[in-house]
Amino acid sequence: MDRRQFLSRGVGLLGVAVIPVACAKVGSDHGMPSMQGMKGMGGMADPSALAALDVLPTGLAVPSLPLLINQSTDVNHFKATLTAAPMQHAFIAGKPTTVWAYNGSPTPLLIELIEGMSVEIELINQLPQETTLHWHGLPVPPEEDGGPQEAVPPQGRRTYRFVLPEACAGTYWFHPHPHGTTHEQVFRGLAGAIIVRPKLTSSDALGVLPETHLFVTDLKLNADGSIADNDMNDEMNGREGQFLLVNGAYQPAVSLAQATRVRLWNATNARFLNLQLQDMTGQAAKLVQVGTDGGLLAQAQQAQTVLVSPAERVELCLSSKEAATLNLHALTYSQGKMGMVQPTPARKLLAVQLAASALVLPQRLRDIMPLGAAVRQQRVRLSETMSMAGGMHNMSFYINDKQFDMSRIDFTSKVGEVEEWVIDNTSDMDHPVHIHGGQFQLQRREWIDASRGAPTQYALSLKDTVNLRSGERVVFKMIQRHQGVRMLHCHILEHEDAGMMANVSVV
Ligand code: C2O
Ligand code: CU
Ligand code: CU
Repeated sequence: MDRRQFLSRGVGLLGVAVIPVACAKVGSDHGMPSMQGMKGMGGMADPSALAALDVLPTGLAVPSLPLLINQSTDVNHFKATLTAAPMQHAFIAGKPTTVWAYNGSPTPLLIELIEGMSVEIELINQLPQETTLHWHGLPVPPEEDGGPQEAVPPQGRRTYRFVLPEACAGTYWFHPHPHGTTHEQVFRGLAGAIIVRPKLTSSDALGVLPETHLFVTDLKLNADGSIADNDMNDEMNGREGQFLLVNGAYQPAVSLAQATRVRLWNATNARFLNLQLQDMTGQAAKLVQVGTDGGLLAQAQQAQTVLVSPAERVELCLSSKEAATLNLHALTYSQGKMGMVQPTPARKLLAVQLAASALVLPQRLRDIMPLGAAVRQQRVRLSETMSMAGGMHNMSFYINDKQFDMSRIDFTSKVGEVEEWVIDNTSDMDHPVHIHGGQFQLQRREWIDASRGAPTQYALSLKDTVNLRSGERVVFKMIQRHQGVRMLHCHILEHEDAGMMANVSVV
């Protein structure tokens, strides 16, 4: 069956869940796995059951991310505990929602670390499922990186220990990574922010600027206040709720008295954030991007829109010659969704009040040493299959024609060697690809079919997640620094949990 036939059969209307493994594991809103999670198997959730957009207040001051306090008195050591547990939170007044949160904070937490620190964070699991803590993008040893191989059972605990290397300042995050239920744990609320600061503040070209942190999550809420289950479209295309939250608040507002460094995380399951800053007439204002996942760019870049795909982070610099009232929007984005569904709608993220605050950025923000010649090439192909049998639609996603098997090694890398990864997206959808172990250097993007246009080079930057459009090839270079098993996967969490993931053995 080809895509056209598949689409023309109205998959959104008569289908049933396509990924029974993932669906069967969706628990109820009250924390215990139950049959309630199977509702989605009967077809699309009744959209009338979703909360209306006006039930959440807008325009509140953007909350700051609560800081995870360092319990250690040694300045080179960070010690803390993260307890994952269900809790009640009233998004809608009078209709409490059971969310899953760390340390009882429905607002995502922030962990601030310094290069070279030794880190010791204990996870206490009070969820009804196994869980892990994964340090997305950080260069930590595989056995401390919270992969699905070493999950912590309900009521269990474990301490993650690692030492941050030099020169890893950047914008990271943490989230659970259990086998098959990562998407559920994240959509119920489990994710938080990490900032690694340089050891020497003088080596941070923008260290003098005040910062604002925007941690974007997605909320799909029923009218009764419960978190909605995934429906079939969520399983195929990745879950999108009706609300985008910034630091846990819906369309909040921020007032900036001077030029500000903004760090923005896309911690949604599957939402592409096609960012644009607009004035009150809807006119686009320039976005000045100064950083990516792994810290500052070598040089600032200006653009009308900046696409932040699921799991990516950006640093922006907001300033204006005159006082300005602006809105940060996520514009509509078409990622090639399957089925009779609308492309991702535009959403306002944040209102910004900006005082007059001209700023001249340094010419060079930092030096990034290009990785040398690669000694090995790794080839990755993303693909999908669609089928319909007995009135049921099926959609499967593959890496090199295989679905994830925790016990199979798919790629072998060598410690300390520069490798070139060539990734082809032969599927019909965008997939944001992420590899564990640290940051890579993007080289170029091109069409697999060269007649579609010339390759484009990437500016030097450090990344751990990169989006591939349908038909695109992306090339990056990376060095793995620790032995062990790393993961490579699509960061649309429904795709990851449905098997769009591979093991990389570093030897
Ligand atoms: Cu953010 Cu393997 O994930
Ligand atoms: Cu990761
Ligand atoms: Cu994907």
